[in-house]
Formats: sequence, structure tokens, C-alpha cells
Amino acid sequence: MSGDPVIRVSHLVKRYGHADAPNVVDDVSFTVDQGRTLALVGESGAGKSTIGAILTGLQTATSGTVQVCGEDRSRPARSTRSRRHRGSQLQLVAQDPFTSLNPRQKIGDAIAEAVALHCRLSPSQRRERVRELLDAVGLTPHHATVTPRALSGGQRQRVAIARALAAQPEVVVLDEAVSALDVSVQAQVLNLLNDLQAQTRTAYVFITHDLAVVRQIAHDVVVLRHGRIVEQGEANAILNQPQQPYTQLLLASTPRPGWTPPPR
Ligand SMILES: Nc1ncnc2c1ncn2[C@@H]1O[C@H](COP(=O)(O)OP(=O)(O)O)[C@@H](O)[C@H]1O
Ligand SMILES: [Mg+2]
Repeated sequence: MSGDPVIRVSHLVKRYGHADAPNVVDDVSFTVDQGRTLALVGESGAGKSTIGAILTGLQTATSGTVQVCGEDRSRPARSTRSRRHRGSQLQLVAQDPFTSLNPRQKIGDAIAEAVALHCRLSPSQRRERVRELLDAVGLTPHHATVTPRALSGGQRQRVAIARALAAQPEVVVLDEAVSALDVSVQAQVLNLLNDLQAQTRTAYVFITHDLAVVRQIAHDVVVLRHGRIVEQGEANAILNQPQQPYTQLLLASTPRPGWTPPPR
């Protein structure tokens, strides 16, 4: 049904290990609509990646519910078919594409593999789809013929995005996806993500510790601290008029254009 959020997280709780271990995610609720970008922000250890891992099915919630495209994801997928179905709804782009790319596999084959997983196409249709995906992320047919080592960090991240898009997902979770890149390359990848979203209406859950990138990409923001939501709302409001002292502190420690060090 159009109009319903593509992600609905309600009262999510996660503890690792024992029942008396601390909640690393503690009563977190948010929704994401089609075509929108929600940034999950907070310092290291805030629980951001854990939420991403639960959304992608790599971790199981302790309690609370997670729905993607209206379907419950609180329990792991039981079958290959169900995993593939979930992959067609939601894809992950991680910080370091080196961990997801086979160093010996040519880029074209890596993308073709992702295409083959999600669509039944003839070999020539598949080659055409790989060419389209390379083009969509700003790479050339030449890049299909090389291995990951021959690419820059920004180019590798473009390959990871192409592989995620091969599934034509409703949602992409990006966990610190631009954090390892230089600021200028970061800006290029963020522009690419914005352009792709304008074309496809894909929703993004954009996980970052860096508020400077939030300004460039997010419509909505959830600020997390020690697993709990400190503040949430529209990005403009949160970035320009943060209500909570913790958000103000995070913003004050983020260098940005025109930034001057706070007085001591
Ligand atoms: N697999 C795990 N087992 C046990 N503890 C974990 C595991 N993953 C993360 N944690 C702990 O959960 C907390 C939140 O981690 P994480 O979700 O990675 O935060 P963030 O991505 O915001 O840095 C941290 O205290 C971390 O040490
Ligand atoms: Mg993390």
C-alpha cells in the first residue's frame, strides 16, 4: 500500500548475551517513508549498527518489532527463498566494501552475481543490466574488467551501491558508508545517492557518527545515545534548532563550512 512507511520500528530493544546485560538498543521507535532518508546519528557505541543489523536480519531483536514493507522481520528468515525475498526489499551497504567484495573477482562479475540473485535474465540481458548499473553509479564499462584493488575507495563504494541496487530494493541501509572517504569523494557519493533516490524513490537508513554528512543527505534524524533516542524529527529542525543539550553538544563538535572552534 503506498503511503504506508516502508520501515516501522516499534519499541526495539537489543541486549547481547545475558538477561542482565545492558540494553544496547533501548525502546527505539521510528518510521521511514518511501523516498525519504532517515539518519541514525550518535557517537560510537550508541547502538546504530545494531539497529542496522536487526533491520538487515544479521541480528535478532530482544523485544519490540521491526516491519519492512509491512512484513515482520523480528525473527530471522527461515528459508533461502525468504532471505531472497527480504533482500529484494532491503539491502545493506557497509563501511568497507573490501569485506563484501571478493578481491579476485572482476567488478563486472561481482555486479552480475548480485543481478543473477534477484532477477532471472538471459546472459545478454544480464550484461546489459550490469552496464546500466555501472552507468547509474557513475562507473564505465572499463571498470567491469578490473578487480577491487584497481579501484579507489570511492569507486569501490559505488560498486557496493550498484550491487545493492541490483535487487531494486525499497530500502537501502548504509552503515557509515562514506565515513572512510575523503570529504570531496564523500560529497560525490552523497550526491549520487541523492540522484538515485530522486529516480527510484528508494528509502535510505543512513547510519553515521558524522553530523556534517547528515546535512547533505537526511530528511529526518534520530539522535541516539547509549541505545536510547535523545531527539528525533526533521533534519532541518534538529540541525538548526536542536532542543536537547546532547544534540547541541554533538553539533558543536562537528566541523562544517564556516565552523569556528568554540571559545574556551
Ligand atoms: N556482537 C556483539 N556482541 C556483544 N556486544 C556487541 C556486539 N555488537 C555490538 N555490541 C555492543 O553494543 C553496543 C552498541 O554497538 P554498535 O551497535 O556497534 O554501536 P555504533 O554502531 O553506534 O557504534 C556497544 O557497546 C558494543 O560494544
Ligand atoms: Mg557502528
